Amino acid sequence: MAIRKIARMGHPVLARPASPIADPTAPAVAALVADMIETMEDAGGTGIAAPQIHEPVRLVVFEAGGPRAAGPDPRGACPRTVLVNPEIEILGEAMEEDWEGCLSVPGLRGRVPRYLHLRYRGLGLDGRPIEREAVGFHARVVQHECDHLDGVLYPARMRDPGALIFESEWKHHLPQAASARDHKKEPQT
Ligand code: NI
Repeated sequence: MAIRKIARMGHPVLARPASPIADPTAPAVAALVADMIETMEDAGGTGIAAPQIHEPVRLVVFEAGGPRAAGPDPRGACPRTVLVNPEIEILGEAMEEDWEGCLSVPGLRGRVPRYLHLRYRGLGLDGRPIEREAVGFHARVVQHECDHLDGVLYPARMRDPGALIFESEWKHHLPQAASARDHKKEPQT
């Protein structure tokens, strides 16, 4: 395992579609996932896509936990998940704007509209299908990571360019009910 260098916004690997993985059970895929997880944990992320470590293949790792995933609907949270060749099916037109960060856009936060409800499918490292419904924060994280596989970074999804801010100023933009300290360790994806 190794901590890999993270590609930053502007690198071509983040701007082009990634290729499908032919065999999710190949040892090279498991080795790549191990590096993705180590890199994500080192950087304090809640998700990472393979192109972010310069591997242009359709593979993501994510989890949805913490205060933003807490709620009455258990589909708003999910344990750490490895997904090969993921596909998203949007369920309903409703969207919500909320803050996101990205390991490839360091130091910034942006308010991004995302669909509230979706179903995703893909393969696990054992080659078996994974299919889940996701809402809220869980759905947001999945949309963010899968966008990386299509060469899309969150600033391209923003409606209001004025809502792209430095992380150090984020405290001025949080709801009054939420303290800056609660969000200090808010993970990036
Ligand atoms: Ni990201």
